[in-house]
Amino acid sequence: MKLIIINGPNLNLLGKREPEVYGDKTFEDYFADLQFRFKEVQLEYFQSNIEGELIGKIQETGFSYDGIILNAAAYTHTSVGIGDAVKAIETPVVEVHISNTHKREEYRHVSYISPGAKGVILGFGLQSYDLAIQSFL
Ligand code: DQA
Repeated sequence: MKLIIINGPNLNLLGKREPEVYGDKTFEDYFADLQFRFKEVQLEYFQSNIEGELIGKIQETGFSYDGIILNAAAYTHTSVGIGDAVKAIETPVVEVHISNTHKREEYRHVSYISPGAKGVILGFGLQSYDLAIQSFL
């Protein structure tokens, strides 16, 4: 089972960024934890602050991997391009958010990713990624 976690803009700052919303753990620490706990999964991680790089990675992995776990972060609410990429590929995509975006500002209530996603997991903190991995097992 080959899965990739693709994280969008500002998620490289997890641990420092608004810890009251996103927690105080870095994604690198959490990812090491995931690799330890899901040894049966070939798990990769990619992060970019650049929309086109995220689209490139979705295209690159989207015809050969078993699953993509995508937190497009702020691009979730703006990017027709990432939404189209998710629809264009064969690999199923699970959309993930750390926070419950529906409890937050109205502009976060819209997702351009959800229409192409297999499912959506949000609001469980970093555990949202655990749940997404489990959904593929
Ligand atoms: C987020 C929610 C988005 O609204 C926000 O722009 C993010 C992170 C989350 O994981 O809760 O950067 O995707």
